Amino acid sequence: EVLDAAGKYLLPGAIDAHVHFRDPGYTHKETWETGTASAAMGGVTTVFEMPNTNPPTGTVEALNLKLKSAEAAYVDFGIYGLLGEDNLDHLEALIEGGVAAFKCFMGNTFGNLPSPPSGAILEGFEIVAKHGYRVALHAENASIMARRQTKLQAAGRCDPLAHLDARPPVVAVEAVARAAILAEWTGARIHILHVSSGDELRPLREAKARGVDITAETCPHYLLLDEHAYTDKKSLIRVNPPVREKVHQDQLWQGVADGTIDMIATDHAPHSHDEKHREDIWSADCGFTGVQTQMPLMLSQVVAGRMPITQYVRMTSLAPAKAFGLYPRKGALLPGSDADIVIVDLDRETVVESGELQSKGNSTPFHGWTAKGAPIHTLVRGRFVMRDGELCTEAKGHGLNVRRVQQMPTPTPRNTHTTTAAILARRP
Ligand code: DOR
Ligand code: ZN
Ligand code: ZN
Repeated sequence: EVLDAAGKYLLPGAIDAHVHFRDPGYTHKETWETGTASAAMGGVTTVFEMPNTNPPTGTVEALNLKLKSAEAAYVDFGIYGLLGEDNLDHLEALIEGGVAAFKCFMGNTFGNLPSPPSGAILEGFEIVAKHGYRVALHAENASIMARRQTKLQAAGRCDPLAHLDARPPVVAVEAVARAAILAEWTGARIHILHVSSGDELRPLREAKARGVDITAETCPHYLLLDEHAYTDKKSLIRVNPPVREKVHQDQLWQGVADGTIDMIATDHAPHSHDEKHREDIWSADCGFTGVQTQMPLMLSQVVAGRMPITQYVRMTSLAPAKAFGLYPRKGALLPGSDADIVIVDLDRETVVESGELQSKGNSTPFHGWTAKGAPIHTLVRGRFVMRDGELCTEAKGHGLNVRRVQQMPTPTPRNTHTTTAAILARRP
């Protein structure tokens, strides 16, 4: 059977290093079936899924429950284990059980998680560093923002912009710098999630210059929206960290251009329509759907000349493959060697329609946007999961845990960069 791809581009499938699929625990927002169907439709062949489900993915029992739910997946997936205040004794069992990386919430977030770890981060990094696994960080200072939110609420602020005012960039900058120092001390590999401000670029650049193994992502909403969107979108646009002023957007594009930001991920965070649309900003859930809209939105930027297509592929496929151990060993073929493929049509125009997205929590601030450039076929390990723009429903369950199917490189523990840490590491 011949596939006519004349005039189209064949790209490695996107790897979205940051999605929340809510299953188990919050399946009215999303399930593995709906979330990965949305991914397949969006040209995404692998997702890395976050641990703030119920139960949180902080024990092997919880991991096994999640792996059971994930049997419905259309696309391949990695699972983040939780690195929390209370589960340091479980981290090695989680590695054994098949997680692909760890997630540490330095700030408060959706879900019933124990308070963000403070002192426990150092020990958690030490444990994970021994195995060479990467820790992804939601880098926001919980204490600073809680105090600011309390003040804003006391002053009667409940408008959408109050959410932005509660989380100035320093909230993130402080946490990024702190995470980088702890990584430097322990030799842990880290990944900074959802970089939202230009100010975070400085601690990122400094950490990279010091030799810290640190990667960073930003998301389409930080590159394409700015503070003006609050007027129209209101509580729908509430996301942590917040969409910021235009000057940050410009600086983020610079960080993309100069390589300080390695990846584009979506922070796909679905909630029900009612949970998103509230008069009082503080009662609206944070985040929105993203895994299906990333490719059309960002390909539009490629078409508009904002980013070469090679860089788009680097940021959405190559960089996450390398950072999370999906890049084949020396001597093997290139990524995509297990035929995770997307065929895109850069001439095709589509309109983003919330109602047409596969995701259950399909609210998106990009509703109504016209995109130029669209995925038309998606293949996972050589099998169609989306064909001619249609979901291949018989491919439900085709998705597998990347820790089981892909050649993960043997992690080499890294040396620490500080004199004292190196001396201590040599003591019996
Ligand atoms: O906006 C957000 N939503 N930020 C987070 O950190 C968590 C996420 C969610 O799980 O809803
Ligand atoms: Zn986060
Ligand atoms: Zn997230």
